[in-house]
Amino acid sequence: MTLAIGLDIGGTKIAGALVRDGEILERARVETPADEVGHIIDAVVSVIEMLQREAAGEEIAGAGIACAGFVDVMGEHVLFAPNLAWRNEPVRAQVMERVDLPVRLENDANAAAWGEFRHGSAKEFDDMTLITVGTGIGGGIVHDGVLLRGAAGIGAEIGHMRVVREGHRCGCGNRGCWEQYASGTALVREARELIRSGTPHAERLAEICGGDPEQLSGEDITGAAEQGDPAARELLHELGVWLGEGAASIAAILDPAAIVIGGGVSAAGDLLLAPTQRAFERHLTGRGHRPWPQVVLAGLGNDAGVIGAATIMVDAPGTSGAPA
Ligand code: BGC
Ligand code: NA
Ligand code: ZN
Repeated sequence: MTLAIGLDIGGTKIAGALVRDGEILERARVETPADEVGHIIDAVVSVIEMLQREAAGEEIAGAGIACAGFVDVMGEHVLFAPNLAWRNEPVRAQVMERVDLPVRLENDANAAAWGEFRHGSAKEFDDMTLITVGTGIGGGIVHDGVLLRGAAGIGAEIGHMRVVREGHRCGCGNRGCWEQYASGTALVREARELIRSGTPHAERLAEICGGDPEQLSGEDITGAAEQGDPAARELLHELGVWLGEGAASIAAILDPAAIVIGGGVSAAGDLLLAPTQRAFERHLTGRGHRPWPQVVLAGLGNDAGVIGAATIMVDAPGTSGAPA
């Protein structure tokens, strides 16, 4: 079976893998250089070269690069990224100039959805939606076995559905987007606010960050929740409610067989999934008179993006609007 390289560019790290048929053979990983797009391209090229060396001359179909932003339908440009500095960057051309491989760009959540659809939690289903919960909220929709791209390639931006009128300002420029309430960023914002309120309820969280709320991370909150801290558990619970309610709206539009929850925050496991499922079940339209879509965690965990990016590189002809 064909070898391919998958990369996932995140805010803190660039993860790469050499993948064959959904299995990771080798990994490479570097820190994401702070905000200079040129440096990010250098880092991407270095990860691809490391993985090419690991392939030891065996043929590689290409490199799929997953990015946390709006990627055009041809897989060439990052048009816009609400949480990164990228604006109309010709990433594909910049990388292809320097590596001897076909390259395509993909939205990170689309890549993760494709990974889960082909090799993860949704492999038995033709209709699935992936919700990735990290810095932002991303969406990937597979309908009838085809990845939904929309007219410009930027469909499935579910994180920017408005859920609160005049709500929190979003990196996309609007207010009240779902990702301002149900992402890792929202989780940290709420936790910091709780600490600042001075409530004894937040004592453990305040202790973890040495009294400086700005030092608190999403992992800190998940860690505290795992150790039983009631405030951290409540915060994850609230996040789950936001997620489940939004997932029910998505089900009203798409009627997927499975909704897969991935991204960094999904590492909280049942502490996030259980309240998500309950809120989903309370808000699903027509409940009791229809099949229940499954709400499950990403089977590939944090590897869904790299595996999906590599797999989509190989499968591209089978996805709508993709360059063959
Ligand atoms: C971006 C999406 C991305 C998601 C997850 C959102 O803010 O608009 O393109 O998929 O974050 O990274
Ligand atoms: Na997407
Ligand atoms: Zn937004």
